Amino acid sequence: MTVKVTIRRGDETQTISARPGLGFQAICAKHKTGIDFDCRASDCGICAIKILSGAEALSPKTAAEADFLRAMNADPDERLACQTRFLGDVEIAVDYL
Ligand code: FES
Repeated sequence: MTVKVTIRRGDETQTISARPGLGFQAICAKHKTGIDFDCRASDCGICAIKILSGAEALSPKTAAEADFLRAMNADPDERLACQTRFLGDVEIAVDYL
């Protein structure tokens, strides 16, 4: 079984099939997605993504992620890709600011 991760980046759309339970770091290690990582620990925010659909299929926010997003005044549909795993189909946007 695989899940479908759809990534929108400007006018481009990329769809990746992945094993449920993986995270964005895993798919980004194999695919050029446009998601950047630095600290990988909820400290820098460079990996922020916007969830367009499938938020319920994502792992819950860790305490550190929730604290960081609150400090950034992030919108409720923003997540840190370095902290997020997907269990079902999801559609996200990168470069959305
Ligand atoms: S890579 Fe720094 S918060 Fe995700």
